Amino acid sequence: MTADTVANPELAKAFVGRDVVSMRDFRREEILFVLDLAERFEHTSEPLLGGRVVVNLFFEPSTRTRLSFEAAMVRLGGQNIGFADAGISSVAKGESLADTIRVVENYCDIIVIRHKFEGAARLAAEASRLPVINGGDGSNQHPTQTLLDLFTIRKLHGRLEKLRVAFLGDLKYSRTVHSLIEVLAQFECEFVLVSPQELRMPRDILDDLARDGVRCREEFKPSILPVDVDILYTTRIQKERFVDPVEYERVRNAYRLDREALEVFPRPVTVMHPLPRVNEISTDLDDYEGAAYFQQARNGITVRKTLLSLLLGALP
Ligand code: CP
Repeated sequence: MTADTVANPELAKAFVGRDVVSMRDFRREEILFVLDLAERFEHTSEPLLGGRVVVNLFFEPSTRTRLSFEAAMVRLGGQNIGFADAGISSVAKGESLADTIRVVENYCDIIVIRHKFEGAARLAAEASRLPVINGGDGSNQHPTQTLLDLFTIRKLHGRLEKLRVAFLGDLKYSRTVHSLIEVLAQFECEFVLVSPQELRMPRDILDDLARDGVRCREEFKPSILPVDVDILYTTRIQKERFVDPVEYERVRNAYRLDREALEVFPRPVTVMHPLPRVNEISTDLDDYEGAAYFQQARNGITVRKTLLSLLLGALP
């Protein structure tokens, strides 16, 4: 990375010490700034974060988010502490989240948190004087997933504007969808929402899209794929969010993408998924021309290297 890395030093300065809790907190100009900077981080592993420590507090399971944050930190010369199982922390003894944050902020420079409760990341950010990054809070938001999704989309399609995107599957509980759709709406994308009735997009998000005049239609037959789209963004049925296991059993196999199903598309369609998948994408799609899900996971480290450097004010 060279000294001319930062095209807009004023914007870079505005990120220092900031929380990343919800994509709603970021303007379009700021999102594009992060994506542009991430292009430069793709092949860079300079020790920009030497001497810095991140604490990773994962109160819910994770593979990609936790390990890519850890790898990003290590690649840039920093260090990680934290836990991947809250059961081995003092939370198991009844310590509150706010107290946990007030304590661990003495041991680090930045905090990453994943939690099953919506609003937990906001609470952590309010309790801490350090920057807090939301690694996913319940079915609410997953902002770093959104940034890596946007980075991937722009790489594959050359733009974010005016794309036609179908979201498939569990649109009720999927935080990755809730984060991403509101940003893509800012870029004049249009949407098809394919889900079982029970798992349709939450009313507040549908109302926001309608208020902003976003073109959007719902389809409740997951077996019928919309062929008029550029991207199929699929999600896992979020078993852990169901209150009633019977309801989960009813919808768990509601849809599945495989090569045969995609034959209805006139040309290869981009297939995205935040992962992990269970059975909603067949492995026979893994070498399909449009399959982008492992690329998304790979781009996670690039975007997280960028964010950590920005928030910690460590750009050259
Ligand atoms: N996409 C994502 O958040 O994956 P993990 O749950 O493995 O972190």
